Amino acid sequence: MKLLSTKATCNSHGQDSSYFLGWEEYEKNPYDEVHNPKGIIQMGLAENQLSFDLMESWLSKNPDASGFKRDGKSIFRELALFQDYHGIPSFKKALVDFMAEIRGNKVTFDPNHIVLTAGSTSANETLMFCLAEKGEAFLLPTPYYPGFDRDLKWRTGVEIVPIQCNSSNNFQITQQALQQAYQEAQNRNLKVKGVMVTNPSNPLGTTLSRSELNMLVDFIKDKKNMHLISDEIYSGTVFTSPNFLSVMEILKDRNYFKDSSNDADEVCDRVHVVYSLSKDLGLPGFRIGAIYSENTTVVSAATKMSSFGLISSQTQYLLSSMLSDKKFTKNYLVENSKRLKQRHKMLVSGLQKTGIKCLESNAGLYCWVDMRHLLNSNTFEAEMELWKKIVYEVGLNISPGSSCHCTEPGWFRVCFANMSEETLKLAMKRLKEFVVESTGNNNTRNTNTQSKRKSSSLTKWVFRLSSRDHRDRQEER
Ligand SMILES: Cc1ncc(COP(=O)(O)O)c(C=O)c1O
Repeated sequence: MKLLSTKATCNSHGQDSSYFLGWEEYEKNPYDEVHNPKGIIQMGLAENQLSFDLMESWLSKNPDASGFKRDGKSIFRELALFQDYHGIPSFKKALVDFMAEIRGNKVTFDPNHIVLTAGSTSANETLMFCLAEKGEAFLLPTPYYPGFDRDLKWRTGVEIVPIQCNSSNNFQITQQALQQAYQEAQNRNLKVKGVMVTNPSNPLGTTLSRSELNMLVDFIKDKKNMHLISDEIYSGTVFTSPNFLSVMEILKDRNYFKDSSNDADEVCDRVHVVYSLSKDLGLPGFRIGAIYSENTTVVSAATKMSSFGLISSQTQYLLSSMLSDKKFTKNYLVENSKRLKQRHKMLVSGLQKTGIKCLESNAGLYCWVDMRHLLNSNTFEAEMELWKKIVYEVGLNISPGSSCHCTEPGWFRVCFANMSEETLKLAMKRLKEFVVESTGNNNTRNTNTQSKRKSSSLTKWVFRLSSRDHRDRQEER
């Protein structure tokens, strides 16, 4: 008899992905301006640290919100006892209003249709549990957020079938790619339960176009019993044109309303939005996520499931006060996007000076960076080789495209909002030196003491990765 369950011992969590391994390496040797100036700079974490001062200033002016008080009186006991998994009504109202504000109030959201979850991670998994059986599939455009292998597949047993997008059209979703993915699922005998997109995209940093969104709605409309999930976690993290267009706006423009007499009613039941305050407000530690759905059965089931990952009542109370302050939210959204725009520009121009291009983008906390010209060959092995050099020799943790299931070797996701300007400048300086040395010197490096030390850790890294590969292969057998 086995001591542990198959789930506890299986390897499908995805933590062996280079995306998470890069974080581990960073943790062992984190850059610090004073204490560890040669350490690894974390550029593999999509965190927004640019606007904390705005929130800190609000907190100092509104001490009741974090001090468990209402009108100066303690509500500690009320919050300590609160346990209704439907959430605090004032928070749900404030959250849906904030979601509408991000969308320029072109659409509204009903607080009765929102389910609160511990971040989007939990929201996405909960939706999988509600919409699909083990062994059924969702189609996802590539490249996609590496965490989806964990969030959508690991505990649910749901499969992801990639919609293969590529650089020839800036990674846009095409009808052909969508049909091919559908066909691929059929060939694998997988029942397709829907399509899931991230809009704006992680890792591309681009927003979906109206025609792409309409194509996706058409697709689920034609194929009965299929869902469309739109993870809009970066909806307030758009800093330049084109503007963000939510799938909810598409439904509205098409006159698809719930309770309308035509078959549009039925389509509304199959479109679900995921949101979180982890990116737009930079609060991943607070674990504030949500599912928005017009489907009452989904809302009811997901609410019951949310018992496994609720948002604490004091967090809900704090955020309901903050988000109800419309002067604050308006100023925050404008100022935050100004800062993101400036930081994005810094990264793009820093890379340009090194001869590196990025996919043109308007959103997100990262750029999708084209380093194909730095590969020794057009292979994923060469991508890993380059990535290891960048982690160990250059001291930058960036995320290889292969960890995002990109089909073309040589693309990397590089984050820009989780560090200071000085650190970003240093990162660009390190990268420039590396590129000049490796391209100008025919890819050879000086064998000084420092590079010997680095290559010995590179050897260890290669060994560690290959032993993992070996173990994985054993497990697969
Ligand atoms: C597209 C996407 N969805 C979900 C998540 C998870 O976010 P949360 O912190 O809200 O769980 C992330 C985090 O990076 C993400 O990029």
